[in-house]
Amino acid sequence: MTEPGTIPMIDLKAQHARVRAEVETAIRSVLESARFIKGEECDLFEREFAAYCGAAHACGVANGTDALTLALRAYGVGPGDEVVTVANTFIATGEAILLNGARPVFVDVDPATFTMDPEKLRKRVTKRTKVIIPVHLYGHPAAMSAILDEANRRGIPVLEDAAQAHGAEIEGKRVGSLGHAACFSFYPSKNLAACGDAGMITSNDREFVDRVRRIADHGAGRHRYENLVLGTNSRLDTIQAAILRVKLRYLDRWTDERRQRVRMYDEAFAGVPEIRRPRESASCRSVWCLYTIRAEQRDELQRHLTSRRIATAVHYPRPIHLQPAMAAAGGKAGDLPVSEQLGREVLSIPLYPELSDTDLARVTGDIRSFYGRG
Ligand SMILES: Cc1ncc(COP(=O)(O)O)c(C=O)c1O
Repeated sequence: MTEPGTIPMIDLKAQHARVRAEVETAIRSVLESARFIKGEECDLFEREFAAYCGAAHACGVANGTDALTLALRAYGVGPGDEVVTVANTFIATGEAILLNGARPVFVDVDPATFTMDPEKLRKRVTKRTKVIIPVHLYGHPAAMSAILDEANRRGIPVLEDAAQAHGAEIEGKRVGSLGHAACFSFYPSKNLAACGDAGMITSNDREFVDRVRRIADHGAGRHRYENLVLGTNSRLDTIQAAILRVKLRYLDRWTDERRQRVRMYDEAFAGVPEIRRPRESASCRSVWCLYTIRAEQRDELQRHLTSRRIATAVHYPRPIHLQPAMAAAGGKAGDLPVSEQLGREVLSIPLYPELSDTDLARVTGDIRSFYGRG
């Protein structure tokens, strides 16, 4: 629970207030149709979201973790295979690899964009590499062109982890249509947010998407109780699809509002050298899922902001190669110096479309005054 008077990291009640009537109508219509599983809204949202990304096909699933896990399964990833990814990410990226019995191979990130360093990728690709997963962290696209060069040269598919980057672009092309396939999460704190768990896979490869769909639906064939491959139950819920269809219509406006607030943060922190601001690479358009600074005396700054009733978060304090849950991958401290350094320095501050000018000024004022620049 957020204390009254606290500026939160994200304000889901304020978001809901903007779409309440439309969301309630959408939910009511599903309730009345009683098509709770595989309802028409699922199909429609898949088509609309694929089109939004510039991809030909999409398959809704239960959450972003399943999107990654099932996509890897559809590639046939299993024991003896390696999947190259980054450790500066949410644990789900690594879980999906280990859950398929493969070995995650972690490469370090570029300190400017916090995303996969293509130079370092080159050194970690082997004959066993089955898939490469770059993560579009905090809403900023990974360096896809260099990553794809390396992957294409070796004939390895690139699966984008776009869980934090709905609508982010490189040279006007949206994530979700850049690699062979992409995985999205609609977790409530994401830019496009369900009222619960939901996820999606996009791709131009129809056969691949059909394979994922089959796995996500108990390996089902055309006939009732015909199960052709070992699958699971990971379908997108119809009520979530209906809600997401409403919010998709607002997504670009909300992204613009985020970008406006980012400009205000950038201006306010321009004269504070103790803070390294996140930047957008040339030709990229970030959707700013998070505004994450690198800060000297990060822990003290965080404590100061907590005492001033400003919520903050560390994304992520421990790169996943050092998480006990990833022990099977054999990572150790010192393997990924940039990711490990970021874990000590990063701090995400409140950013959401409804963040008011007054609250934003409170955040910037308190950060500036912490560094004696009030
Ligand atoms: C980078 C990244 N990958 C994967 C996921 C997993 O998504 P979900 O929480 O919907 O399972 C998340 C989100 O939480 C994420 O941030």
